Amino acid sequence: MDHASEKRQAGEAAIRYVEEDAIVGVGTGSTVAYFIDALADLRNRIQGAVSSSEQSSTLLRERGIPVLDLNAVGPLTLYVDGADECDPSRHLIKGGGAALTREKIVAAAATKFVCIIDSSKRVDVLGKFPLPVEVIPMARSLVGREIARRGGQPVWRDGVVTDNGNWILDVHGLRITDPVALETELNQLAGVVTVGLFARRRADVVLVGSQVMG
Ligand code: A5P
Repeated sequence: MDHASEKRQAGEAAIRYVEEDAIVGVGTGSTVAYFIDALADLRNRIQGAVSSSEQSSTLLRERGIPVLDLNAVGPLTLYVDGADECDPSRHLIKGGGAALTREKIVAAAATKFVCIIDSSKRVDVLGKFPLPVEVIPMARSLVGREIARRGGQPVWRDGVVTDNGNWILDVHGLRITDPVALETELNQLAGVVTVGLFARRRADVVLVGSQVMG
């Protein structure tokens, strides 16, 4: 099956985790767009969504789903989002769409994180996909040097400004055998806003197409 069909299947399969009257955390990306399409059919049975990006907020509103402020709601029962890579322990690389910071916030607020991917995203070891790191603009070079000292090759995603007004470094050349340790270490660098490793808060369920990853 082609990847687009798997993304559609995964987005539709995630609907089974949506509970009556829920406020649903919604991620960002082409796989999530299929989830939003499917969620629109349930819009009268949910309270609304907390969105992880301007892009997803637009899609949600276009489909008549209320977009709620995270500060105005309690803990979320569910967060649904895609990923750029997923290892067998459900650790993820995210941020290919530059939405990693708000994605990490909404994931942290949710009891259950359901990750929806196509089979091309499955890897044994994270790192072939360049690791996105959101940085405060004035710290771009400083953070880049710190990452280079640790063996990564940072590349500035020139021209991209995140929803939070920051910049992205894509770190090439990593082989991430201990994602929790690397996430923790990079989080400590001055000027780093968010590391695109979702390991400390990993996915609880991964749907590859319509199948739960075993
Ligand atoms: C957005 O910043 C990313 O974390 C996305 O979740 C990721 O890039 C997956 O995107 P697709 O579903 O478009 O592959």
